[in-house]
Amino acid sequence: MKRKEFFSSLFAFVPLVLGFLGITKMSADFLSPQRGKAKIRKIFATSLEDLKIGESKEMTDLKGKEFLLIRTDDRKVKALSTTCTHLGCTVHWEQDKNRFYCPCHQGVFTPDGEVVSGPPPRNLATYNTEIIGDNVYIYLKDKEA
Ligand code: FES
Repeated sequence: MKRKEFFSSLFAFVPLVLGFLGITKMSADFLSPQRGKAKIRKIFATSLEDLKIGESKEMTDLKGKEFLLIRTDDRKVKALSTTCTHLGCTVHWEQDKNRFYCPCHQGVFTPDGEVVSGPPPRNLATYNTEIIGDNVYIYLKDKEA
């Protein structure tokens, strides 16, 4: 085999190998449901002593995810995303009006995060919470890389 023929066959072979590797990766992604699945983190958020009934607390976790805690009852704490579902502005809790308010386009949400008025197309995202003793934990979802 001459040198020119060798390189010609090599250049024909490389795309074939790359195609095979691509198909293998796509097959592995399809067969492995864990990839791309949301990862859930349980983090300590606050103590009940530091969050009175009717109060809200804005928090940011170590990964920069912002959320709001609101204590609605003696042993009931809700956690919601601070990101408005309209164009992504930050919503704020207005305790005197018992609502979440987005100042960008006057979006209004209930304490449960349901849209009341304004342009937001969806309710605020919510996160599960758990109270153990007097400590409040929140379960945050992250997308795996
Ligand atoms: S971004 Fe919140 S109402 Fe528009």
